[in-house]
Order: sequence, then C-alpha cells, then structure tokens
Amino acid sequence: MSTKSLRGSKARIGAESLLQSSQKNIVLTGFMAVGKSAVGRKLALKLKLPFVDLDQAIEAREEFRVKEIFECKGEAYFRKVEKENLKEILSRDGQVIATGGGAVMDSENLHLLKQRSVLIYLIALPETLLRRSGSENQRPLLKADDRLVRVEDLLAQREKVYRQAHISIDTEHLSVDEVVERIIKAISRRSAKVV
Ligand code: S3P
Repeated sequence: MSTKSLRGSKARIGAESLLQSSQKNIVLTGFMAVGKSAVGRKLALKLKLPFVDLDQAIEAREEFRVKEIFECKGEAYFRKVEKENLKEILSRDGQVIATGGGAVMDSENLHLLKQRSVLIYLIALPETLLRRSGSENQRPLLKADDRLVRVEDLLAQREKVYRQAHISIDTEHLSVDEVVERIIKAISRRSAKVV
C-alpha cells in the first residue's frame, strides 16, 4: 500500500471510530443548493451510516412538499415543524444528516446541533449557489426578480451563523466525491486531537 492510500485508509478508520465512540452524528449545513443532500448521501454510503434528509423527513411527516408548506401554511409553520423533526432526528446517533439551509438560524437548533453532532458547513460563492440551484423554483426563499442579489443578501445575513460549525469546507472547485474525502479527513483530524 502506498503512503498516500495508507493515509487515506487511516482517515476513514478515524471517521468511523469517532462516530462509534462518541455516538454522535455528522450534520451538513450551508446555503440552499450548496450540495448538502448529494454530499450527505455519498458520505453516508462511504461510512456505512444511515442518511437522513431533514426536508424529506418533514415532507414525509407533513405529506406536503416544502414548497407547498411555505405556500399554504407559511414560513413560521415550516420552522416549527423543522424544529420538531430536527429534535426527533437528533435523539438518535450515528447518522449523516443533511439539514435545510435555514435550520441553524434558530439558536436552539444550533445549540442542539453543536451538542449532538459534528457540524459541517459547506461553502460556495453566490454565483455558484445560483448555478447549482438550476432553473427550478422549488425553493420558496429564492423567488425574486434578481435571484443573485437575493442569494447574496441572504448569505450575508446567515454567514456568521454558518461559520459557527465545527468544520468548514470550501466546495467551490471540488466534486461531490472530493468534498466527501475532505470531510472524512477533517473529521479524523478532529478525532485525533480529541483522543
Ligand atoms: C431553506 C432551505 C431549504 C428548505 C426551505 C428553507 C432555507 O432546504 O429547508 O426551503 O431557509 O435556507 P435546502 O437548503 O436543502 O434547499
């Protein structure tokens, strides 16, 4: 085995044992369309952990799409069910969880997330976020005449909170697989400091 692949396999072992020993979760946060669900699904597969998507859990529970919940019941109702579902999901251990981009903005949610998980912030520039969001309009908070300005404004409001995550990863020039590798390395570095 080469030194590089030996280092790679050590990173994987570190990430798995971190979760087994501390019984925590890995949670992905960051702006809409940054890639939390795509990265989360692959990360979970690689670490052989269950993957939970918070928005999907809400949709299953409410029997409506997130977009419809915003339209019919309003954002305050969505935030209430988001909080309830997050609490319930975080009562379990050993999962990879993708949260909606606004979940950490509630201070109680943020506190719980930091306690019950290794919280990872995925970073990208506004232009990249807009490109990754495509033309679809499934995200009620991105409806605007000038969507780039909307992304810039909302990101500016949220950035300080996102930065409170334990680990930040710049995804700007990385593929989903590369982001997954960076996360595994960063978690194992953290766990090496803890033990
Ligand atoms: C939101 C992000 C969405 C979804 C809802 C609100 C937000 O999830 O939870 O539309 O406030 O940033 P994604 O981040 O997966 O798009």
